[in-house]
Amino acid sequence: MTKLLQLALVASGLVVGCTTIAAGKKEAAYEPNKNQNPQRRTNVTKLYNDYCAKCHGENGEGGGGGTQSLLVAEKFDQKYDRAFFDATRNGLPGTGMESMGETLSDQEVWGLVVHIRELQGKALRWGLGQPKKTGEVFNSKLHNYKVETVVDQNQGLKVPWSLDWLPDGRMLVTNRPGGINIFRAGQKVGEIMGLPQVLELGQGGQLEVAVHPQYASNGWIYISYSEPKADGSRAAMTKVVRGKLSWNGENAQWGSQQTIYQVAQEHYNGSSVHYGCKIAFDGKGHVFISQGERGGGNIAQEIDKPNGKVYRVNEDGSIPKDNPFVGKGVVAEKVWTYGHRNPQGLTVGLDGRVWDTEHGPRGGDELNECTKGDNFGWSKVAFSINYNDSPDWVPWNAPGEKYKMPIFRWIPSIGASGLDVVKGAAFPNWKGDLVAGGLSGNSVDRIRTKDGKFVEREGLLVGMGRVRDIATGPDGAVYVALNQPDKIIRIVPAK
Ligand code: HEC
Repeated sequence: MTKLLQLALVASGLVVGCTTIAAGKKEAAYEPNKNQNPQRRTNVTKLYNDYCAKCHGENGEGGGGGTQSLLVAEKFDQKYDRAFFDATRNGLPGTGMESMGETLSDQEVWGLVVHIRELQGKALRWGLGQPKKTGEVFNSKLHNYKVETVVDQNQGLKVPWSLDWLPDGRMLVTNRPGGINIFRAGQKVGEIMGLPQVLELGQGGQLEVAVHPQYASNGWIYISYSEPKADGSRAAMTKVVRGKLSWNGENAQWGSQQTIYQVAQEHYNGSSVHYGCKIAFDGKGHVFISQGERGGGNIAQEIDKPNGKVYRVNEDGSIPKDNPFVGKGVVAEKVWTYGHRNPQGLTVGLDGRVWDTEHGPRGGDELNECTKGDNFGWSKVAFSINYNDSPDWVPWNAPGEKYKMPIFRWIPSIGASGLDVVKGAAFPNWKGDLVAGGLSGNSVDRIRTKDGKFVEREGLLVGMGRVRDIATGPDGAVYVALNQPDKIIRIVPAK
């Protein structure tokens, strides 16, 4: 072949390369590569630099071998995940893009897709994280809004982890090291005294606070925390209790405590990670509780082990007769869904669907719809690579596997945290949309779903601090608990 003809082919390949990747069309079933090399513990960055950078550029900027830049907003999107994977594994005939399927394992090929996403993330994410501003006003697609500080740094917040409101508008905020403070109009006015002891260990401590939707008539407040093991060792496990407040001026005393979710002492461990642990009411008498896998990985697949589950119990902690694994064990009968890693976002949509957001390792944070009995596949399938840059997973079901896929995933990771639903009072055009927070992403995203399917995602805020929790307030504003700096802010409509 003459150099000129080659050049012409590469040049026409540019067009072919763009048009043959039909993103968004229904994905063909994933077939593992029969020729693949046994998986090696490769460093994905090195792999990219050795095999891909000469054409695509070390940062994905393109230019070599007839490539275009990979750093374009349109392609920084999950609808290209499979297309990128297929292009890398099978090549793109008619372009200089050769098949890597003989050389690399599927895990390595997927690792390269994650690497490309990380390069795109570095180049694009902050720019796409929030809408353009006019002065203080964010001009988003469906609403213009502003950001206000509700509680500033001098009001006793310490890693604020969760917030909720009493019917009179007072706001309760947990501090992860311990304690729940009470705020009125942005000022700390009191505390809840006499709370159960928590073990502050890594990601554990005082976690969720959730005021029962009928608090005005029943007085119940639910809390989750990492409970120290009874033997006094530095081991803990997530526990959920409910209690009632009795008032002494602006301070409240915790009492009438009942246990809602607790597991046997043998499951308490010294791991400092992945406690979950959010609480959501469905308004039909059930409480959903998310429990992280405590670093236990594949134990999330064992339905009678507590790690890596979303639980469903009655509001008093008893077991609903229609739970999916009733009769399958003491832990299993509380399980609603399993195969989770660290679900730190949990909410029930206006349409009654149960949603969680959870952390993947590196890349592949997920938004999942939790329907009865689902298995989300951790740690068998994941949209991630390992923290040490080695590939381990392919995200899709191999033949015979039936893991439920997330409807949306964040690659690179945002450190998925709080999740809530916009109720509509202040933002009618966002009514029913999910608002999802990110710790490392420093982000708030709005996500629209319809009939359980993903419709769109819009970045609302980025770069304000680590987002620990998101909650729609009684005024309809979207409240965001931040850490580094410790603050509560809210997104309010701009007139
Ligand atoms: C000899 C040059 C060359 C090498 C080496 C190469 N590619 Fe490509 N690649 C191309 C060309 C040419 C295209 C098609 C034009 C385009 O999309 O930029 C392409 C397309 C792609 C696409 C589709 C991009 C899109 O926008 O749809 C992906 C993904 C991709 N390559 C990944 C890789 C990975 C991963 C490696 C390393 C394992 C690699 N490529 C190595 C030349 C190369």
